[in-house]
Amino acid sequence: MSSIGENGADFLVVANRLPVDLERLEDGTQRWKHSPGGLVSALEPFLRSHSGAWIGWPGVADADVEAFEEDGLQLHPVMLSSAEVRDYYEGFSNGTLWPLYHDVVAPPAFHRRWWNAYVRVNQRFADVTAKVAAQGATVWVQDYQLQLVPAMLRELRPDLRIGFFLHIPFPPVELFMQLPWRTEIIRGLLGADLVGFHRPGGAQNFLWLARRLVGLEPSRGAVGVRTRPGVVQVGDRTVRVGAFPISIDSAGLDALARNKEVQQHAKQIRNDLGNPKKILLGVDRLDYTKGIDVRLRALYELIADGRVDPGEVTMIQLATPSRERVDHYQQMRGEIEQAVGRINGEFSTVGHPVVHYLHQSVDRRELTAFMTAADVMVVTPVRDGMNLVCKEYVACRYDLGGALVLSEFAGAAAELTSAFLVNPHDLDGVKNALEAALTLDPAEGRRRMRALRRQVLTHDVDRWARSFLDALGTQTAV
Ligand code: ADP
Ligand code: F6P
Repeated sequence: MSSIGENGADFLVVANRLPVDLERLEDGTQRWKHSPGGLVSALEPFLRSHSGAWIGWPGVADADVEAFEEDGLQLHPVMLSSAEVRDYYEGFSNGTLWPLYHDVVAPPAFHRRWWNAYVRVNQRFADVTAKVAAQGATVWVQDYQLQLVPAMLRELRPDLRIGFFLHIPFPPVELFMQLPWRTEIIRGLLGADLVGFHRPGGAQNFLWLARRLVGLEPSRGAVGVRTRPGVVQVGDRTVRVGAFPISIDSAGLDALARNKEVQQHAKQIRNDLGNPKKILLGVDRLDYTKGIDVRLRALYELIADGRVDPGEVTMIQLATPSRERVDHYQQMRGEIEQAVGRINGEFSTVGHPVVHYLHQSVDRRELTAFMTAADVMVVTPVRDGMNLVCKEYVACRYDLGGALVLSEFAGAAAELTSAFLVNPHDLDGVKNALEAALTLDPAEGRRRMRALRRQVLTHDVDRWARSFLDALGTQTAV
């Protein structure tokens, strides 16, 4: 176990968000709630079962919160002003980098004011980390919001071992080259000892860009698990680059799904829906990359074509509110809600809507019950770094029931090859896959689910974290 002594923490995670978000209630009080997103879902169970410090933003503007301990985890809040939330978080992180890194499925905007805020906030994260880290500590910097932190931190604390992991896709070089600050980002990442991506293609793109933009010569070497590994020499430093596909706490979810109360709750959900023959489920942050519109369109057409009976099939779409002040998100929310209204308006009967749309986040137990109840899990992103929802569904199906429809453009598709893989741009293909999953022969379904579970249960988040930290060569026993 690592420890947090008087001289600072030996192991630190640095992420845009803390694992908990501060919520300000109308009566003036405040409380902490679980933060949204895959990064926290993956890293929190790993970190809670070890010890360390987590540096991140508490999720609201101008929250000047002291460091505190929660369940053995040291949390170090980094304050953002409301202008920084607008320019660094909503602006450069989610108005520039997010769409650019997701194949420009929405147009990225390039503003110097946003970039300046990104530099300023990254420097603040580096400064806080430099203060909290013990001599020779291991620091694991996370995701696209903090790509400058590795180099900034190395400047302040050359004694640290620094890893960086990107949780979203790293784009093709032609798209990355659009970024006016492309060289600064590559230099920022090269401050790490190890730069990790979900997929080997991301690592290759990064190596190409390092050579092209910074003039460094990549050479092949050994790092990572199942990767086409790379090594970059930066002066007398060696930066290793590799692919590390992230995962989930598979055993934890499997156990939760077997819990009697959760099973009871799953039955209740089915009952509350009027015992439909088949339940389709979608679970996402309400994000335009997730292809929620694609699956709604496919369902609409399947019903209109007479291939799906709306009296027999019910769809539940859980959509966590996300980045609600960013334009693309506001527009997409309107479109999705319209699509839900159209299906329900045309095909529902009184008391039996075809689509149940919840613009809410549900807790872990309830989510597990939904996944246990669902006959078909529909995961159709147009681009996704990994996508943990599909792995969570598989982990919940200890009964070998259910079927998974999964986009080829999710990182997880490379591992979950026994799913019904679809191209989300091919609407007929999505319709065919949905129909096949809804009418799946149970024996074939069990065969597919067994293969999916073999992958997800043996490749869990602990294995992911260990493979990354081993490749980082951390001296700390985490
Ligand atoms: P992203 O990181 O882009 O949000 P992932 O699929 O990797 O996408 O991770 C999303 C995480 O958020 C998963 O752990 C999923 O269970 C959780 N999640 C998504 N939507 C909801 C919801 N409506 N209620 C509860 N949890 C949700
Ligand atoms: O991995 C994608 C990611 O942006 C994570 O960094 C983050 O935890 C999650 O999605 C949720 O996004 P946000 O923090 O913007 O709500």
